[in-house]
Amino acid sequence: MASIWTKKPISAYEADMKKSGLNRVLGKWSLTAIGVGAIIGGGIFVLTGTGAFYHAGPALAISFIIAGIACVFAALCYAEFASIIPVEGSAYAYAYGTVGEIFAWGLGWCLILEYAMASMAVTVSWSGYFTKFLEIFNIHLPAYLTSDPVTYTGGGFSMNLPAFILVLLITALLVKGTKEAAKTNNLIVILKTSAVLFVVIAGAFYVIPENWMPFIPEQKLILHPDGHMEKSYGLQGVISGAAAIFFAYIGFDAVSTQAGEAINPKKDVPFAIIASLLICTALYISVSLVLTGMMHYTDFDPQGKYPNAIKAPVAYAFEIAGKHWASNLVTVAATIGLISVAMVMMMGQSRIFLGMSKDGLIPKFFGEIHPKTKTPYKGIILLGVVVASVAAFTPISTLADMTSFGTLFAFAMVCVAVWIMRKREPHLKRPFRVPAVNFVVLCGVSINLYLIVKLSKMALMLSMGWLFLGVIVYIIYGMRNSKLNNPEKYLED
Ligand code: ALA
Repeated sequence: MASIWTKKPISAYEADMKKSGLNRVLGKWSLTAIGVGAIIGGGIFVLTGTGAFYHAGPALAISFIIAGIACVFAALCYAEFASIIPVEGSAYAYAYGTVGEIFAWGLGWCLILEYAMASMAVTVSWSGYFTKFLEIFNIHLPAYLTSDPVTYTGGGFSMNLPAFILVLLITALLVKGTKEAAKTNNLIVILKTSAVLFVVIAGAFYVIPENWMPFIPEQKLILHPDGHMEKSYGLQGVISGAAAIFFAYIGFDAVSTQAGEAINPKKDVPFAIIASLLICTALYISVSLVLTGMMHYTDFDPQGKYPNAIKAPVAYAFEIAGKHWASNLVTVAATIGLISVAMVMMMGQSRIFLGMSKDGLIPKFFGEIHPKTKTPYKGIILLGVVVASVAAFTPISTLADMTSFGTLFAFAMVCVAVWIMRKREPHLKRPFRVPAVNFVVLCGVSINLYLIVKLSKMALMLSMGWLFLGVIVYIIYGMRNSKLNNPEKYLED
């Protein structure tokens, strides 16, 4: 009799790890660098403008603190899981090994929303910086080729062509193999972290303290990108701002996908998850303070004096301060840096597809490996086509909000899963234990679910539709084909 609570035995994970033949070369700081590399991206370089203008004003820094706290609770829970089952596959694998299939399915389904949507949002962010990058060389792309039809105000056809092309290029690279890509990733991490530090240090000289007054502007109705009039600013704005920029923190869980290559995964993976999150939180708070100090938050209005500022806010802040060289420097670093995040997200997604398909929860198609390049090429190509098409026609705010929905839901589930495990298997060896577990789990679940409610209505509706679809796909396909529940179907494997 099939059970939705079937667990994948830990010994099966250990066997999978042995088969994978990966080299254990990553120490705790290399793992931390991977985390920082996956976290810093479109969120800080682009969404800061959206967060300041549509939500929090100068109090954006407080929004970053709130979102950071929500992540810390989830990160502690991730760390405990990573120390028990140090395998690749992130939360999906943890849940399958500990709580059971239905939970793993739910997490896997949310992670698709997280990773696939994040790659769309990051490529759209990249497009804003790429357009600015071309302007350095006096090449001006027409607005109808760099805008989605929802926010384009010029009338007639429009699409985000640079985002579309970038996704197809990344898809081709991922199909060919990822070794070279991983090597260049380290250099890119150094480049973009230096760019963020540069923004904080150089930008501090151009802060005009009056721009921070009042720090929390009075609440008022403004037109949001999805076409609704909504209340912005005030304390509510600070909280909806936390939900809107939450996207910027996504990525620390990518460390957990590297457990197979860690020298001492049980200790170093938990360390790197928490360290990368804390480093980025400190950087984000500093950048948001500097940015809203350099530019008045109302200057990010897309209908205002600087209509493009919201697409590449950090670079524009320097430009408006008259420092074109600094603006160009940030533009180049962001243009290169964002490519790596999009790549990591698409790679992460293809690994999750691979894991779910190996377990029989989604069709074999997603796990078919190319005989020469050894990559799950069919899944990657399908993913690329979908990501490219959606990225070309959807506004960044909706994409980022849907990414946040998937992630916040996954985080809440990871917190619950840790709690269930503590009750079910209290004596299991845990090299890392969440301190004050009841408190952390309760706060983690509450803050993450609360932030979900604060996301835009359009994104909420679309994401709920995604969850509903997930339940149907599980009943029609996953439950009937799961390897653990239907061993007779897989005898020949
Ligand atoms: N945190 C990643 C970014 O901001 C997803 O691009």
